[in-house]
Amino acid sequence: MYEFRGATLQDAIHQAVRYPALSTKTLAKMAAKFDFTARMRMGSVLFVGEGNLSFALTMSRTPRDPASSILATVDEAEEGLTDTACDNARKLLKLGCSVKTGVDTTGLSDTIGKRQFRTIIFQFPNVASRYPRYGQNPNHVLVTRFLKSARNHLKPGGLVVISTVDSPFYEGAFKLDEAARKAGFAAPAIFSCDPEDYAGYSHQNMANEGSATDGHTAFATFVFSG
Ligand SMILES: C[S@@+](CC[C@H](N)C(=O)[O-])C[C@H]1O[C@@H](n2cnc3c(N)ncnc32)[C@H](O)[C@@H]1O
Repeated sequence: MYEFRGATLQDAIHQAVRYPALSTKTLAKMAAKFDFTARMRMGSVLFVGEGNLSFALTMSRTPRDPASSILATVDEAEEGLTDTACDNARKLLKLGCSVKTGVDTTGLSDTIGKRQFRTIIFQFPNVASRYPRYGQNPNHVLVTRFLKSARNHLKPGGLVVISTVDSPFYEGAFKLDEAARKAGFAAPAIFSCDPEDYAGYSHQNMANEGSATDGHTAFATFVFSG
């Protein structure tokens, strides 16, 4: 008889029917959307890996506490910014926000010192490479290192927020539960997400690629609390 890890095929089928695997998609459907706008009213916000800065700009235009600082950052050097990113950076500065280039999310203290925030947001993290690092998907390595670094920049009660495409492929690439555990966070709360809810946000992907959201219809926001 066919056996897998000591269980018969019949046992395995019985288990799978009784306890179907929960996909991120299923979980996301169980929760409401994460309220980014409410979060903007709750204190200082750090945006990282912002690409063309359009998400930070859109959110900074929502009602918020003027005394709370907003810092929008990109990985790229100033010379590497697109025209759209430069334009959005100017608009952010006019709104009283700060903008910083050359901010690597995996070592935030190198560029932002000891600053702490109520919320740290990374929308659609993605590295240009598909080659494994340390035997792991490079996107898993990115989010794990980001979470470890962000932990040191959270105010008490603060949250780290990451949105990704909601598909088994992305779930397997990011492995966010495992990343949370490695970085000392509890398993993230999962919310559904629709980038089209944010007028003015035009998602930017890595150089020479289309939008990471193109061709996808399901998205999820993962919320990590210390
Ligand atoms: C798919 S794009 C998303 C850009 C933007 N967040 C958005 O939603 O339009 C992925 C972004 O991750 C950024 N990124 C990748 N690795 C990073 C790192 N180590 N530190 C900061 N940003 C990083 C890239 O520069 C790129 O802008």
